[in-house]
Amino acid sequence: MHNITVIGTGYVGLVSGTCFAEMGNRIICCDVNKDKIAMLQNGEIPIYEPGLKELVAKNVAENRLFFTSEIGEAIEDSDIIYIAVGTPMAENGEADMRYVKEVAKTIGKHLNTYKIIVNKSTVPVGTGELVRTIVANNRINERIHFDVVSNPEFLREGSAIADCMNMERAVIGATSDKAAKVIAKLHEPLKTKIFMTDLQSAEMIKYAANAFLATKISFINAIANLCERVGADVTQVSEGMGMDSRIGGKFLQAGIGYGGSCFPKDTFALAHMADQAGYDFTLLKSVISTNEAQPYVMLKKLQDLFGDYAGRRIAVLGLAFKPNTDDMRCAPSLVIIDELVKQGAIVQAYDPIAMPNARALLPAEVTYFDSVEAAVTDCDACLILTEWDEITGMDLASVRKLLKYPFLVDGRNCFSLQEMYEHGFVYHSVGRPA
Ligand code: NAD
Ligand code: UGA
Repeated sequence: MHNITVIGTGYVGLVSGTCFAEMGNRIICCDVNKDKIAMLQNGEIPIYEPGLKELVAKNVAENRLFFTSEIGEAIEDSDIIYIAVGTPMAENGEADMRYVKEVAKTIGKHLNTYKIIVNKSTVPVGTGELVRTIVANNRINERIHFDVVSNPEFLREGSAIADCMNMERAVIGATSDKAAKVIAKLHEPLKTKIFMTDLQSAEMIKYAANAFLATKISFINAIANLCERVGADVTQVSEGMGMDSRIGGKFLQAGIGYGGSCFPKDTFALAHMADQAGYDFTLLKSVISTNEAQPYVMLKKLQDLFGDYAGRRIAVLGLAFKPNTDDMRCAPSLVIIDELVKQGAIVQAYDPIAMPNARALLPAEVTYFDSVEAAVTDCDACLILTEWDEITGMDLASVRKLLKYPFLVDGRNCFSLQEMYEHGFVYHSVGRPA
């Protein structure tokens, strides 16, 4: 059993803190955002993540999970400190390190006993050393020692708890064997593979993994765009490609481009890191530009149906960047809906969970509905942007009846061409024949 403080109670801090508690440790989750902490203290969960509310409640009831905004006290009470604050994208594309630096300073000021400081945030190579310097320079007592470890997080939103509790590997980068062993032991209940490495390589593994997954997505989107021109079907192509275990079938679903709080910012940050190191990472830059162009491929399909959108009523089904999350950060729907509204379309939107977050980011002209059926009623066309179960399982016959015209543009390849033909839709999807 360890006493662990997790600093930053966002997606990663809250989920991993709760999972560490579930594994039998005593966890204090802390955050500068007092409203967030007050909500958690009241049993409310600030994000939508399946199963999280129940797991938080269980570990709070069993006295293993605590929430506070008294960060200094939490640090003093613990022997392991996890940093899980945001590293958003700065204007020039690099990772904005201000929160990590701030936390390192706070840790230094409250370093009352030996502690292991573990970085879970996604950070540029060299951050472990930077944290070491900041903590050392702010220490109250130079004789108190500490170690810095990198233990990046690989969970996905929407399946975060399962990803955490059944992780495929834990990457642990450290200069101190003693500290690395403590963090490895902490992961023992998970019976996962432990990959021990140096600090810098652990930091790079996280960016390389995200950039590689983003590359698979941009690659299959480019293949999809080509399939449309030469008469192939991308879903068949990715299935056939994926049967080769050297390629693997995952992350080969063509669509509207990757979004979310990580792939967009992390690909930019890695490209920036490469530029700074004097390496022009053109492959990665193409991944980014292919991704930025993909939402416009969808818009072009819609435009081809009408000529222009002015005065057209378009139902948009699905707003979140992927199903099972309310996260709207860098959702491709933002670009697509902005463009539709700019060109005079009337947008009727529906998402099972993300509408409250979407309202804050989408143009004020968008109207929101509380069901698929209500959103599609009297629309000239329907556009699918997120493959929620509720959307892939919608009643096609009733949607067809409620739409003014049978136009359906599907950015996620949710339906078979045959069933859409049978229901009488004019159906345009991604990388498949119309
Ligand atoms: P988030 O924005 O959801 O949460 C970050 C939290 O840190 C916020 O609640 C913020 O108030 C808090 N914070 C900021 N400064 C603080 C300070 N000085 N002291 C205490 N708290 C502070 O971010 P997130 O999505 O959890 O991501 C955190 C890190 O993990 C990022 O580096 C991200 O790239 C990485 N990551 C995220 C995911 C994901 O699915 N979201 C997955 C893997 C890795
Ligand atoms: C991603 C990684 O999968 C996690 O391992 C990582 O920890 C996390 O980023 C992070 O660093 O934050 P996440 O962004 O939650 O997780 O979601 P993914 O399931 O990876 O999807 C990202 C985007 O890619 C979504 O917009 C999704 O629709 C898109 N995608 C995914 C595709 O377009 N095609 C695919 O085949 C897979």
